[in-house]
Amino acid sequence: MKKFTIGAALLSMMFTGINAQSLKSPDGKFEANFQLKNGVPFYNLKYNGNVVVEDSKLGLRLFKDSSIKFASEIAKPEDASFDLNNGFTKTSEKRDSKNETWQPILGEKKNYINDYNELAVTLNQTSSDRSIVIKFRLFNDGLGFRYEFPQQKNLNYFVIREEDSEIDFPTDMKAWWIVADYDSQEYQYQTTKISEIPTQWPKAFDSNASQTLIKNAVQSPLMLKKEGKEPLYVNVGEAAVLDYPASHLEVDAQNFKFKTHLTADRQGAKGYIQTPSTTPWRTIIVSPKAEVVMDSKMMFNLNEPTKYKDTSYIKPTKYMGVWWEMIIGKSQWAYSTADNVHIGEDFSKLTPNGKHAANNTKVKEYIDFASANGFQGLLIEGWNTGWEDWFGHSKEFVFDFITPYPDFDLKMLNDYAHSKNVDLIMHHETSGSATNYERWSDKAFQLMNKYGYKSVKTGYVGDIIPRGEHHYSQWTINHYYRIVEKANDYKIMVNSHESVRPGGESRTYPNYISAEAARGTEYEAFGGNKPDHQTILPFTRWMGGSMDYTPGIFQTKLDYYFPGDKRFVQTTLAKQLALYVVMYMPLQMAADLPENYAKHMDAFQFIKDVAADWDDTKILSAEPGDYIHTARKAKGTENWFVGGVTDENPRDYTVDFSFLDKGKKYEATVYEDGKDADYINNPQSYKIYKKTVDSKTKLPIHLVRSGGYAISLKPIK
Ligand code: NOJ
Ligand code: CA
Repeated sequence: MKKFTIGAALLSMMFTGINAQSLKSPDGKFEANFQLKNGVPFYNLKYNGNVVVEDSKLGLRLFKDSSIKFASEIAKPEDASFDLNNGFTKTSEKRDSKNETWQPILGEKKNYINDYNELAVTLNQTSSDRSIVIKFRLFNDGLGFRYEFPQQKNLNYFVIREEDSEIDFPTDMKAWWIVADYDSQEYQYQTTKISEIPTQWPKAFDSNASQTLIKNAVQSPLMLKKEGKEPLYVNVGEAAVLDYPASHLEVDAQNFKFKTHLTADRQGAKGYIQTPSTTPWRTIIVSPKAEVVMDSKMMFNLNEPTKYKDTSYIKPTKYMGVWWEMIIGKSQWAYSTADNVHIGEDFSKLTPNGKHAANNTKVKEYIDFASANGFQGLLIEGWNTGWEDWFGHSKEFVFDFITPYPDFDLKMLNDYAHSKNVDLIMHHETSGSATNYERWSDKAFQLMNKYGYKSVKTGYVGDIIPRGEHHYSQWTINHYYRIVEKANDYKIMVNSHESVRPGGESRTYPNYISAEAARGTEYEAFGGNKPDHQTILPFTRWMGGSMDYTPGIFQTKLDYYFPGDKRFVQTTLAKQLALYVVMYMPLQMAADLPENYAKHMDAFQFIKDVAADWDDTKILSAEPGDYIHTARKAKGTENWFVGGVTDENPRDYTVDFSFLDKGKKYEATVYEDGKDADYINNPQSYKIYKKTVDSKTKLPIHLVRSGGYAISLKPIK
């Protein structure tokens, strides 16, 4: 139980009102209060008069100096006199507000609304004569706040020991979480009370190629629910994580309190700052409706508009890939049987392993299929030399990103693809060697320009080089954006894997079209994703940007390839279709092999038809961990698509088409689980039928366990 004394209650009553700065959301429903208590900054948050976040502390702890003797500095005991969390007086406050509508280059809606009231309090620490600003933005869907460090005599350079931003909830809540890790987000979601997180934590992870776990901490975005008669959904995240480490949330399970824990670098430091500078925004999205939380664009609103001059090259892309067959182990990225190779050696002298997928014959077959079915892109992995010993050796110079294997004819295949209206998608696996990628990226992008590649999938499997850095530390985050900015110079779109999860930064960097940064479909071949996985991701990983989930697996059982193999994709085929609507993916893959689609061309039709960029989105009904039903209107057309997924429970749902234009008739094509469908025993059972619908139609649908449905709607002329 939460410790709550009468003394604390009195103190908190005294605190509200006296010298507190209060801020209201534009619709008046939220109230945030800022207060200095004995020189220490605190804030709280209320919704409809009820406390959502109790008085919670703010501030940062710093190292003494940022000198070159930093390694010895780090070993010294903490000294509070350097911290920016105490001894403050308020010197001024500034208020502002905005109500703007902006258009994302690619997005879930044509217009995103950015409507907030702002309070910026300037605080001075008398003892050190240093000033900081704490800025609050209160939207109609919750609160964002950050620290700002103006340039000043006594605050030019500093190194962060820790940011201690607290979020103190009054009650225990249901939480959907993954373990905190400086290097990976590829975990199964856990559903427990906040108070149960420490007990569940040791059972909540499996191994990963790069892993630095933080005990009793969880990742953000974190989804929470206050259950009961008046439920409240809360999402805790961060936005605009630039030139700063990504943060995790330490859990105080007795007090239902979370505190930021920044990703450390190789020295154990958590951010090297030169003023003027700002931290990322801490976000708390709140609504009695789960649908409103999922639909929130707060993280994007808290990012700066793009400065890119030309965004015309940024296009939604549907693609296939020479990919899944390697993931399941049917073929290989590597060309030869060698186990120790050097870039620059003559790979044609090596003995081919006979399983190299990125070969001219096979790639042409994929191009033919992708072209015949209207896909714009085809990803090819394993095209370049170096895959024989790419992983697990802390090898710095593992790829050059420009030399194809002997059986991959770069020019011929690109010419062939272009002659069939397909663009090949480049693959740059770095094996975590970010330094090596920075060395080669110009040459690699020049090669892409020469042959007409429009997008690149990057990857960071394994520990990061520079050694000791982490996937989410400040240096590595700066690396991701250096690559994205450079890609923009070459008019290239980027989709990164194993990078940090986004916090709305695609508003500023619209060519950063997608990222994986969570447990994607590949894990169905590495141990499985639980049936509720896809009902949680849109409430967590997706809150700050799209994910390359790589759905569309029709041959879900892998014993089809390898008799006796127990691995299987833990959904029905119809649920795979639903993911194209439920998950926002402007870069949208049809991940299965052509031969598997060829057997189900009727169901494949949905993937061919579905859009990847939208004028409108309506979250019809959603509950994290249980189900999601979403409708989206395709960009520039009158076509709508609906998708719904369920967890391990079968469900009945009635689609209410009242979102359609009144008086218009639409032809609906419905793809749903067959009567006898079952994600374990009969995943490929589905039925497809057509029906005329209008805004008054209500269509009952049955979803089997881990099942789903998809509907495409075209107006009848
Ligand atoms: C992990 C990525 O998530 C996957 O998509 C890719 O195929 C492999 N790394 C190899 O780069
Ligand atoms: Ca991955």
